[in-house]
Amino acid sequence: MEPSRLLIKGGKVVNEDCSVLSDVYIENGKIVEVGLNLHFPDASGLRVIDATDKLVIPGGVDAHTHLELAFMGTKTADDFHSGTKAALAGGTTMVLDFAIPQKGKSLLEAYDCWRETADPKVCCDYSLHIAVTWWSDKVKKEMETLAKEKGVNSFKMFMAYKDLYMLQDTELYAAFSQCKEVGAIAQVHAENGDLIAEGAKKMLSMGITGPEGHELCRPEEVEAEATQRAITIANAVNCPLYVVHVMSKSAAKVVSNARRDGRVVFGEPIAAGLGTDGTHYWHKEWAHAAGFVMGPPLRPDPSTPGYLMDLLANDDLSVTGTDNCTFSVCQKALGKDDFTKIPNGVNGVEDRMSVIWEKGVHSGKMDENRFVAVTSSNAAKIFNFYPQKGRIAKNSDADVVIWDPKLTRKISAKTHHQAVDYNIFEGMECHGVPVVTISRGKVVYEDGRLNVSPGHGRFVHRQPFPQFVYKRIEQREQVGKPTAVIRKPYAGKIISSHNIR
Ligand code: URP
Ligand code: ZN
Ligand code: ZN
Ligand code: ZN
Repeated sequence: MEPSRLLIKGGKVVNEDCSVLSDVYIENGKIVEVGLNLHFPDASGLRVIDATDKLVIPGGVDAHTHLELAFMGTKTADDFHSGTKAALAGGTTMVLDFAIPQKGKSLLEAYDCWRETADPKVCCDYSLHIAVTWWSDKVKKEMETLAKEKGVNSFKMFMAYKDLYMLQDTELYAAFSQCKEVGAIAQVHAENGDLIAEGAKKMLSMGITGPEGHELCRPEEVEAEATQRAITIANAVNCPLYVVHVMSKSAAKVVSNARRDGRVVFGEPIAAGLGTDGTHYWHKEWAHAAGFVMGPPLRPDPSTPGYLMDLLANDDLSVTGTDNCTFSVCQKALGKDDFTKIPNGVNGVEDRMSVIWEKGVHSGKMDENRFVAVTSSNAAKIFNFYPQKGRIAKNSDADVVIWDPKLTRKISAKTHHQAVDYNIFEGMECHGVPVVTISRGKVVYEDGRLNVSPGHGRFVHRQPFPQFVYKRIEQREQVGKPTAVIRKPYAGKIISSHNIR
């Protein structure tokens, strides 16, 4: 019998606002007590874990994954089983995945389909964002049902993938308006899909068929322009906006400036963008270069990752995800003669925490508390499951990681737990290693070994109107309504328009 009670002793409990030496007592999947020198005379079913000289942090929340996604003619290498197992091995205890209906298809059916696929397989808790890929009254109604009854409070709209997922501005306006109405966060994939389509044709016509064409056809300003447009549309309808996968300095600056202008907008850099760059697209070996293809692309400017990390440290950017959407080399090879056919996506779900510790905390850009904020608490606040997750506190879920900031590990496809056959962080040496991962009160990863079964994780229902975001929106709605100027009616002459040709 596995112990049902856990006592983590002697560690430093790190929350987003402070760090305190404390023990943590866990029972029935919940944190029951946090305090100094906890003692339990009745030791039956109790396991004590020594965390001396280690940090005890809230399990990571990856706000952006695509597990088991059918996309660009194939299906991701990592499914909900391998993907969530890998997450746990890396110190992530919850993922937010995307249910993406095809144009014309029901959002509710997509939700059901993703639930049926994921529920029996997930090894950690998860939730779903839903994509809005077309617009109609039915979509509008389904968004309401999802928010009111299905635990969904975030919808992703694509400004790219022309003819597949892309929405026009009027559709974005309608979708953002409905997000505001039902108390959801609007998320955008911000790239100008029309310009990408034109740019891709141009590159191919110039004989550029390799992975470098993927970046060349969609330079930074294509991302920055769409980011600005999304912010403008969201502000026009007073809807909170979350920009997924902010990949360039230009787009990050747009988000940062908008926050300084008082917009309710959040930017999400991903592990790939913080840990590596787009110079790989010019690598001589095709398979190596293709492995980094994702949209928006990694940027060839090598100062990009450091810049994104600076903005993340300063709260210009808010949350980290991975956009984990893995395709093995033979799948990438669908685009061996045409970069537009390379399935878009990279790994990250397993390595995000270590990459951010190494590039963010070990480098001195952020402290351990900001690390917790950007890897866990901020996502929980924005998507409304805080402090159920994202905090080590009484009554919070026992999703806890014992983190050794001094240990190092070398990332490699040879040792990772993901199903994909390469790793974009291959060879990267990272300080910061999860030594124990606890999910729902169970030790699921320890000493490099996983001990978890498919279906251990649960779907996390999220209520609409997260107060962290919506307090400001609601107040602006009250006080910010434009009103008409009261005037006497105009009583003068009016030109006759009949005589104008
Ligand atoms: O390349 C990417 N990002 N693949 C996943 C789909 C998306 O746009 O997030
Ligand atoms: Zn996207
Ligand atoms: Zn390379
Ligand atoms: Zn994505």
